[in-house]
Amino acid sequence: MSDSNDASPPIPRHVAIVMDGNGRWAKKRFMPRFFGHKQGVDALVRTVLSCADRGIEYLTVFAFSSENWKRPTEEVSGLMGLVLVAVSKYLSKLAADGVRIRIIGDRRQVSDKLREAWLQAEESTRHNTRITLSVAFNYGGRWDILQACRQAMDDGLASDALDEAALNRYMALSYAPDPDLFIRTGGEVRISNFLLWQAAYSELYFSDCLWPEFGDAELDAALAEYARRDRRFGGVPSGAASLAGGA
Ligand code: IPE
Ligand code: IPE
Ligand code: MG
Repeated sequence: MSDSNDASPPIPRHVAIVMDGNGRWAKKRFMPRFFGHKQGVDALVRTVLSCADRGIEYLTVFAFSSENWKRPTEEVSGLMGLVLVAVSKYLSKLAADGVRIRIIGDRRQVSDKLREAWLQAEESTRHNTRITLSVAFNYGGRWDILQACRQAMDDGLASDALDEAALNRYMALSYAPDPDLFIRTGGEVRISNFLLWQAAYSELYFSDCLWPEFGDAELDAALAEYARRDRRFGGVPSGAASLAGGA
């Protein structure tokens, strides 16, 4: 990892994105919301490769929340169908580009077809190492904490053996470091039940850009802002320790 003495700005190892604004993007163009979701898939594929080019190791994106079932049936089924189309359209390209794909979320509520597509995406990319793309689908931060607790209890973990590291091993993103940078597009300033546990110390970045128009300029603006942040994790501002005579 870079530190403040390095010439190159620090690059986050892990970026998480709430890909919001598809519906409004379509509405502005007098198009159905589905059109926005379709363009949103293209924006995601572009963004994975841009992140990989910049040396980001993990990208985790919010594609469908535990609460998105509240949407009209046509929109929900449109989204489910779109995922199947997206996997068949882009999987081989992402696999060839070195992307490892993981899906996080409750798979029990999705169709067999979708579960098979997820498995195929994970299996066919499992040896890739350039970047790990985790797609959060039927995911909620509260669901994640609960399912981790349940698994820990099923494993018979004693309460005094349960600490943060132990619980983290059951969390959906146990294979990744915590997100350094948490981006939300679409102008809303909220977390909407995304990575509640993992984002405890993420740098938050909110952009008015609607997800389908997210591109390199927006990514680089977020990375530049990240590079200016002073991450303290509860400590003192950088430089303050030496001023106070600390080590
Ligand atoms: C985010 O875009 C994608 C999903 C939640 C699936 P939205 O569909 O929430 O778009 P807006 O926020 O209504 O514009
Ligand atoms: C968050 O966006 C979920 C995803 C981007 C998948 P929403 O559009 O569902 O969030 P709210 O309803 O504005 O909080
Ligand atoms: Mg939205």
